[in-house]
Amino acid sequence: MDPATRQLVEGVMRTFGVPIPNPRQWIPHSPTPRQELFLALQELEAFYGGAAGGGKSDALLMGALQYVDIPGYAAIIFRRTLQDLKLPEALMARAHEWLDRTPAKWVASDMQWRFPSGAILQFGYLDSEDDKLRYQSSAYQFIAFDELTHFTQSQYRFLFSRLRKLEGANVPLRMRSASNPGGRGALWVKNHFIPDGFVPAHAEAIRVWVKPITYEADEMLMLKDLFVGESLPVNRAFVPARMQDNPHLDQASYISSLYQLDRVTREQMLKGDWSIQVIGRQRFYGPMIEQFTAKPGVTGELRLKKDEFGTETPMFFPLDRGALEVWEPPQRGRVYAAGADTAEGIEMSEDPEAKSDPDYSVCEISDAMSGEQVARLRYRMSEAVFGEDLYTLLRWYNSPFFVPEVKGGYGRATLNKLLDLGYPQTLIFNKHLMDELQGLPPYRGDVSYHDLGWNTMPANRELLISLLDDAILKHKIEEYDSVGIEELRHFCYDARGKAKAESGYHDDTVIAKCLREVARIFAKKLAPMRARQDAQAASLSKTPRKYGQQPRRDVEEEQWWKSQQRRR
Ligand SMILES: Nc1ncnc2c1ncn2[C@@H]1O[C@H](COP(=O)(O)OP(=O)(O)OP(=O)(O)O)[C@@H](O)[C@H]1O
Ligand SMILES: [Mg+2]
Repeated sequence: MDPATRQLVEGVMRTFGVPIPNPRQWIPHSPTPRQELFLALQELEAFYGGAAGGGKSDALLMGALQYVDIPGYAAIIFRRTLQDLKLPEALMARAHEWLDRTPAKWVASDMQWRFPSGAILQFGYLDSEDDKLRYQSSAYQFIAFDELTHFTQSQYRFLFSRLRKLEGANVPLRMRSASNPGGRGALWVKNHFIPDGFVPAHAEAIRVWVKPITYEADEMLMLKDLFVGESLPVNRAFVPARMQDNPHLDQASYISSLYQLDRVTREQMLKGDWSIQVIGRQRFYGPMIEQFTAKPGVTGELRLKKDEFGTETPMFFPLDRGALEVWEPPQRGRVYAAGADTAEGIEMSEDPEAKSDPDYSVCEISDAMSGEQVARLRYRMSEAVFGEDLYTLLRWYNSPFFVPEVKGGYGRATLNKLLDLGYPQTLIFNKHLMDELQGLPPYRGDVSYHDLGWNTMPANRELLISLLDDAILKHKIEEYDSVGIEELRHFCYDARGKAKAESGYHDDTVIAKCLREVARIFAKKLAPMRARQDAQAASLSKTPRKYGQQPRRDVEEEQWWKSQQRRR
């Protein structure tokens, strides 16, 4: 608005007794040139990132307060935890310094500032993944994350869906965040905002950097309602932060305090260096992987044997280089969990490197309660054979809850075989359970064939890997297979921040273990019901066996297993 128009508008407002917007009333600091740049950005998403002490958090608070004179305006600023929010140097305390002696009112129970216009500024935290659900029915025009690298990408995306236009007012929608490099989420933040080729030296110029957005299908869906009849944003904005920008900071004492930190962190904090890479860094925590002790299991294969009643029973046949490795044979009454990754056919793989060393199909089984690995099937076979073998293997292990990956046609073909043979649908993972894992309420309707299996997508891959990460970090599982342990060691971040097998290694068992960890969650839930069924079956087995009933495993076979275990 040019000064003449502004004067005119203000004159009219004064005549009608409308309060004149005056952000200065709420914002006691004058922005530095770089903060000003950040505050003027028109992009939907913008990030103020880099060196410590540059005034990033301050800029978020200024941004939140820019429109509080507009009725109905709502802004929220997040920190990862409530404790973070309450830190004396954090933004909640700063807001008190700024607003305590103004007409704005603090409502502690809602962690909200309420302004005379009716606008609000709220503070929020997202400690655990499901904290985001508290904001499910809220709507904001300004959403900010301070220390963005402390958040997960899924939290950031979830809050994105809480942006809503304000009816009848020309208030921009803004997702704003600030952070130093480093922190658990540094990689996704870097990939999201920092343009390729950006180095700390570029930060000297006071300018905005943009990174073109490549949308994933679900993101487009999310933004569709926000941009009816408009084109979607094409860029994300990034303003690099430098400590030197902030004349209000005691830089000497700040720098000396940074010298307490390790070298990488210090570089990141001092220079805002996003390029200090974590390529090749292990995705799973190395020292915890080393706590697993590899030991050979018994290798062999399973075959179905028909008894005199026509019932097929899985029987184990030892073989020197059998694809099935068993550390603990099934025991009656135990609850197991299984996950499987079907390999893409050799001839279909686009990766020329993969052709010489194609992927394996892998099924991982563990004791659902103790988390101990009990068996693993790993080979290169057609999906129909894999499906048949899975059926036998799962039957042998008391029909556990099973999570098959179905991405691409191969997993589905394996699953089809399993269903044809009669494996119960209720023991197979479906997409509604995935929704439940992502925080939605349990689904009560029918599950259709197309819902079955785990469909890995960019949005849920990290969740899948996090479940195994958590189990490793807290030592809630025990792994025995040397191949799997080796794969865990070589599951690393690539240059784009994606966790996958280092070149020359496979990650099929890692993925199968991840899927097995998903299965464990549901296997444990089903355990009490299974125990009741087992008790019933046990009482039946005292009466003479009838056609179709589960036969007892050969006494001979059980003795053989005992001898094998004694030998090891
Ligand atoms: N424009 C300004 N006017 C006056 N003081 C400012 C201004 N910008 C920042 N400050 C002050 O400088 C100090 C550091 O700023 P701030 O906390 O926003 O930096 P930061 O980049 O978020 O730092 P960190 O990396 O440690 O989170 C704070 O005390 C803040 O109030
Ligand atoms: Mg800060």
